[in-house]
Amino acid sequence: MDTYECIITKLDIREYSAQDVPLEIRQRILEAARSTGTGLNTQHWKFILVEKKDNLKKLSEDSTSGSWIAGANFAIIVLTNPKYKFHLIDAGRVLQNMQLTAWNYGIVSGLFTGVIEEKLRSDFKIPKEMHISTIIGFGYPLRMLTGKRKNRKSINEFVYYENYGISNLI
Ligand SMILES: Cc1cc2nc3c(=O)[nH]c(=O)nc-3n(C[C@H](O)[C@H](O)[C@H](O)COP(=O)(O)O)c2cc1C
Repeated sequence: MDTYECIITKLDIREYSAQDVPLEIRQRILEAARSTGTGLNTQHWKFILVEKKDNLKKLSEDSTSGSWIAGANFAIIVLTNPKYKFHLIDAGRVLQNMQLTAWNYGIVSGLFTGVIEEKLRSDFKIPKEMHISTIIGFGYPLRMLTGKRKNRKSINEFVYYENYGISNLI
């Protein structure tokens, strides 16, 4: 799949089949994370790979907006170091790279950010100096993807030309 097609078609999917994701694809997803650039090349992040069913269930119970993670084949908790002011930009970049890599191989993914922080930190031994940026779940899709179009604004609704507020009138 070419990069543009991957970006244009990729959806966030929250329902997964029981089929295991092959190890080599999981490895590529992690390699995509490793290859992502960070501000000043600090590589301040850490990733916790979660694949045991009881730990996925814990993740689900520790979430306020991602209970569906219990059904994922595996999950990745993305931790960043908030001492770098760009750490959330880094988190967004790595998250998208991992999701696009997965999509390229027919693996779907979803993310959530709502967590019961104290519980999550204690369950996964996350030190307080690391920021819990996002949790991503991966797996084969439960249903066939319909190729539905994304629900997005038109370009003219959010792109301005030369100055804020100037829409392209052509
Ligand atoms: C910063 C951010 C936070 C998100 N948080 C959640 C979340 O807590 N729970 C969830 O189910 N989806 C979450 N999502 C997924 C969005 O709902 C999803 O990207 C959006 O609906 C577009 O989905 P689509 O690309 O499949 O159209 C989040 C996405 C982003 C970028």
